[in-house]
Formats: sequence, structure tokens, C-alpha cells
Amino acid sequence: MSIIEKAASRIEQKKDEQGVPGAAARAADNLPPPPPPSVAAPSHEPAAPPAAPPHAPRRTANQVELDLERMQRLGLVTAAGGRTTLVEDFRIIKRPLLKRAFGPRAPGEKPGNLIMVTSSLPGEGKTFCSINLAMSIAMELDHTVLLIDADVARPSVLRTLGLPAHRGLMDILLDDKLDMADVMLRTNVNTLSILPAGSNNPRATELLASQAMSTFVNEIANRYPDRIVIFDSPPLLLTSEAHVLASHMGQIALVVEAEGTTQHAVKESLRQLEGCSNVNLIYNKTREFPGTETYDYHYG
Ligand SMILES: Nc1ncnc2c1ncn2[C@@H]1O[C@H](COP(=O)(O)OP(=O)(O)O)[C@@H](O)[C@H]1O
Ligand SMILES: [Mg+2]
Repeated sequence: MSIIEKAASRIEQKKDEQGVPGAAARAADNLPPPPPPSVAAPSHEPAAPPAAPPHAPRRTANQVELDLERMQRLGLVTAAGGRTTLVEDFRIIKRPLLKRAFGPRAPGEKPGNLIMVTSSLPGEGKTFCSINLAMSIAMELDHTVLLIDADVARPSVLRTLGLPAHRGLMDILLDDKLDMADVMLRTNVNTLSILPAGSNNPRATELLASQAMSTFVNEIANRYPDRIVIFDSPPLLLTSEAHVLASHMGQIALVVEAEGTTQHAVKESLRQLEGCSNVNLIYNKTREFPGTETYDYHYG
């Protein structure tokens, strides 16, 4: 039984054992689609609460409750439902990422535990894959995960999870006095924390390429060397900042939407990622069978 299964055991105990309808994920070696269903080695929100008095309830303002049943209904990875295709597929997707996360690093290579999830354009499944990857890795016994909503122009991690807006990344970048710990959200999946995108800002995307962001990413790497840090990121072809962000990452997962992303867009995205280490492809939404398995993934 995985950690998340244990974490969700209270909920699970009340549930019948049923398969989860919805997405599935698998790994693939190459583009163009459809890739084989096998794992592929890749090519190369408001303020921090004051310390709680001893008699106060344990939960702080920065603790949020993920509604795992709701997530399951949305086709997201949760432990509820057991070994669904989706859970299985993300198991396969995460494996090579985890393997490299804490492996030896070539000189100059960025920390492998910093993983950027990006794609060519909006709507291809970056947030969906980021959350699923984060949940899937949080289910591992030995891993803790920090999910960062870095798609600051179109943040949707909290919304997708059904959580209210909260301060986050933008606020840290704009306010020297604010610490990550002030805005980070702990969740009921105790191996998973979330750093929201934070307050709206007209310079949001621009800030991703700023020195402050670079400092922030280094700080994360130093502060959480044992944690998997997943960045739900902006699309590569709409902003120039996304590829600056990519340059800080040890691993990249490029989401490709089946029958959506054009080959041209994939090539252009890969060009933007030239020089980045460990670029992986997640081939998303390969099938649609309404009411049963809605989507499929490949990864490579
Ligand atoms: N594999 C999938 N299975 C089911 N729904 C998906 C899948 N991938 C994406 N979606 C849905 O497609 C929409 C766009 O996905 P999203 O992750 O928000 O894209 P992005 O973050 O790239 O803009 C969302 O409604 C999301 O729930
Ligand atoms: Mg998104």
C-alpha cells in the first residue's frame, strides 16, 4: 500500500473498491504518435499565520484539504480506486524521472529533482499531468513532493484541485520579506505540499525570467535537495520566459496532446529546450472512450 493510500485510508475505508474512470497514462519511446506503451528513456494565496499557540488546533491556515473523491471524479490520480490504468500509467511515467532525480549529476547539470512540466500551447494537459505526477510520486514511500504552480499567467493548480486562491510564487518574488514557508500549503496527503502561483500581476510571466526567480529556484534546490519539485509551467511557444525557466531545471517533461499538438509545434518546443538536460515527452489524451477510459498517455 502506498503512502497516499495510507494517507487517504480514512476516505478509502468508506469507499467501495471501484476502478477509476478517466485518464490513463503510459510511456512511449518516440514521436510521432502513437508510441509504444513502454517506458522510454528520454533523450538527453493570504498571509502566513503566526505560530500557533500550544492549545490551538494542529491545522494551520496553510494546511489545505484535498478532496480526493472529487479528484477521482475528475480523473486525477488518487489512491482511492486502487490500481487503475491512470495510476499504473503515471507509475511508468514517474519511474525514469525518479531514477534521475537523485542520481549522479554531470558538471553544470541542474538538480534532477527540479522537474518542469511544460508543453507547446495552453490546454494540452500541463496542469493535469503536473498534479498526477505529483500525486503519483507522493504515493511513493520514500518521496516528498512540492508542486509549484509556475504557470503564473494562467494558474490553475488550486482551481483544478477545488482549492481557494492563496498567496504564492508571485508574492515571494515581489516581496523580499516573504518566505516560501509563509505561503506554501501543506495538504492532507502529508508527502505533498503546494506552492500556488499567488497574486495576479501584470508582469507575472516576465518575472519568471527574472533574477529573483533564478535566486528562488536555487534556494528551492538547496533547501529541498531530497524533495521532488514539480513546476507546472507556462507553454513554451507563447512566452519566451518558459524556456528561461527550463534552463534552471534538471528534468523537463514536455506534454504533447494527441491529435492536438502539431508536429511543427513539438519540433519548435524541442528547439526551445535545446541545451536543457533530460527532456522527456508525455503523450497525452491518446484515446477517448466516454464514460470509461477517457484518455491515455504515452511517455518517452
Ligand atoms: N489525460 C487527460 N485526461 C482527462 N482530461 C484531461 C487530460 N489532460 C488534460 N485534460 C483536461 O484538459 C483540459 C486542459 O488541461 P490542462 O491540464 O488544464 O492544460 P494546460 O495546463 O496545459 O493548459 C482540462 O480540463 C483537463 O482536465
Ligand atoms: Mg495549466
